[in-house]
Amino acid sequence: MEKRDIVNTGKAKSLYRTDNPDFMIMEFRNDTSAFDGGKVAQLDRKGMVNNRFNAFIMDRLESAGIPTHFQQLLSARESLVKSLQMIPVECVVRNLAAGSLCRRLGIEEGIEIEPPTFELFLKNDALHDPMINESHALAFGWASADQLVRMKTLTYQVNDVLKALFADAGMLLVDYKLEFGVAGGEVVLGDEFSPDGCRIWDSETREKLDKDRFRQDLGNVVESYEIVGRRLGIDFEDTD
Ligand code: TMP
Ligand code: ASP
Repeated sequence: MEKRDIVNTGKAKSLYRTDNPDFMIMEFRNDTSAFDGGKVAQLDRKGMVNNRFNAFIMDRLESAGIPTHFQQLLSARESLVKSLQMIPVECVVRNLAAGSLCRRLGIEEGIEIEPPTFELFLKNDALHDPMINESHALAFGWASADQLVRMKTLTYQVNDVLKALFADAGMLLVDYKLEFGVAGGEVVLGDEFSPDGCRIWDSETREKLDKDRFRQDLGNVVESYEIVGRRLGIDFEDTD
């Protein structure tokens, strides 16, 4: 498929049209951002690592029956994806307390959350991705009732698959954010799944191995992403 013009430049990825309107090319750049773009940096190898990581996870989710936009790896930092009409709502599930949940509700970091919570955030950096509920999404036309039900079901299914995957590799899936879109009338998982959009701790030491290393200036950001990937069985060595 031929790469055409750029459609969208996000904080860490770019999307390109192809000669087929049903497919786009997603490029993972080395750019990193946190706090809604308030803190940015370029990190060597990050684009390649996240491209590989995302491909591996999307493949596992697809095998478990979860529809995703991912088609195939194209190069070190590019993947072919299905074109989606994105739903501007971020779905977050939490298994352990961290991040904004602790800040908002005064919950102690690391406490187990049972049953895992499901939260919605409006994708809007200028407003700092405010938390919303289903009635906001319906009233303002961000998602339909059917789409909300489907997004919640799929987001919890992802939890079942990935919690076990990380646990088997000695890690805790603390929380994660998913974004969905629509293709052919079906709700499909879009965007990415990488350590940029989730929290992963070592099961024994509870060492943070995700983007909190960047947010909190803990160092070894990409190195930690690679440790997580290698524990899952991802090989990062044959590409750059
Ligand atoms: P939070 O604790 O900041 O609300 O984030 C919860 C999880 O969702 C965490 O793994 C980071 C991820 N997330 C993003 O990747 N991007 C976002 O814009 C938001 C709100 C959360
Ligand atoms: N992904 C969001 C941003 O880059 C939120 C975050 O990671 O803190 O601003």
